[in-house]
Amino acid sequence: MRDQLAKIKEEAVAALEAARDLEQLNEVRVKFLGKKGLLTGVLRGMGGLSAEERPVIGQLANEVRAYLEEQLETRQESLKSAGKESRLLVETIDVTLPGQPVVLGKMHPLTTVLEEIKDIFMGLGFTIEEGPEVETDYYNFEALNLPKDHPARDMQDSFYITAETLLRTHTSPVQPRTMERLAPRVPVKAIAPGKVYRRDDDATHSPMFHQVEGFIIDKGITFADLKGVLLTFVQQMFGADREIRLRPSFFPFTEPSAEVDVSCIMCNGAGCRVCSQTGWLEILGSGMMHPRVLEMSGYDPKEVTGFAFGMGVERIAMLKYGIDDLRLLFENDLRFLAQF
Ligand code: DAH
Repeated sequence: MRDQLAKIKEEAVAALEAARDLEQLNEVRVKFLGKKGLLTGVLRGMGGLSAEERPVIGQLANEVRAYLEEQLETRQESLKSAGKESRLLVETIDVTLPGQPVVLGKMHPLTTVLEEIKDIFMGLGFTIEEGPEVETDYYNFEALNLPKDHPARDMQDSFYITAETLLRTHTSPVQPRTMERLAPRVPVKAIAPGKVYRRDDDATHSPMFHQVEGFIIDKGITFADLKGVLLTFVQQMFGADREIRLRPSFFPFTEPSAEVDVSCIMCNGAGCRVCSQTGWLEILGSGMMHPRVLEMSGYDPKEVTGFAFGMGVERIAMLKYGIDDLRLLFENDLRFLAQF
């Protein structure tokens, strides 16, 4: 039995040495030290020993077990740390690898254009005014000389909230709101950018879109001032060689009124598909502020005059970037947006 124990010890030590990983080590443990292992098998045979020999062999067996357990533990520790080390070797960082590209976001083309419009007018000394998107009938229509049954209201078929409130159909209501606050002080020189809403939906109209309103009130403001300011704006926005053309038009809040065209930015006025062969692109409405509009909001039209204009931001962005469907601006498809 002594020999048996010595043999088991020797074999077990060799097997522990040979184990290449924790799994193999566990197999060795089961084989030699497990409940049905070789060591236990030897102890089972102790029944046939004499009373003197039994404790001696028993103690020897315990010593062998203790020794093997200790060896097992040591081997386990060294296998564990070897595993860690080899993983560290495999996982070291290769600083020569190219980095992961960082994808930078961009401004939405509408935001870019809106910021540009604001910059140009702030450079000309305009301040920025704001008004609510849910507007009263009074400011959206009446204070702009569009009384209740005025036919011009039809052009701005609207989203009503109640009989007297609606989603504003243009940024023009910021005119009377600003005038009421400042009257009778002059000069007033402001733009009002913001969202507006109409019941329209096709390739060139969206139920929500953006406008920038602008107006100047002072003593002695004339149509020449209007023309000068708008020409400066157009040349800064579309290029120094642009020209403008004013066509007579009608708006209830201006008299006289004019549509402003810019010489076509695609063909330079020669005539092309974009300008429908006319050489001109319509970009905004404008006019001298109607005396009644000034008067209703606290200014004396015999003392001061003013001009006003309103432009669609989407339209300007479409012209500037050659976008042919306005809905692309609102679909948020990155394949489209990433081009700007
Ligand atoms: N409010 C007009 C519209 O939405 C645009 C406009 C035209 C504004 C002439 C003006 C103006 O201030 O003078 O169609």
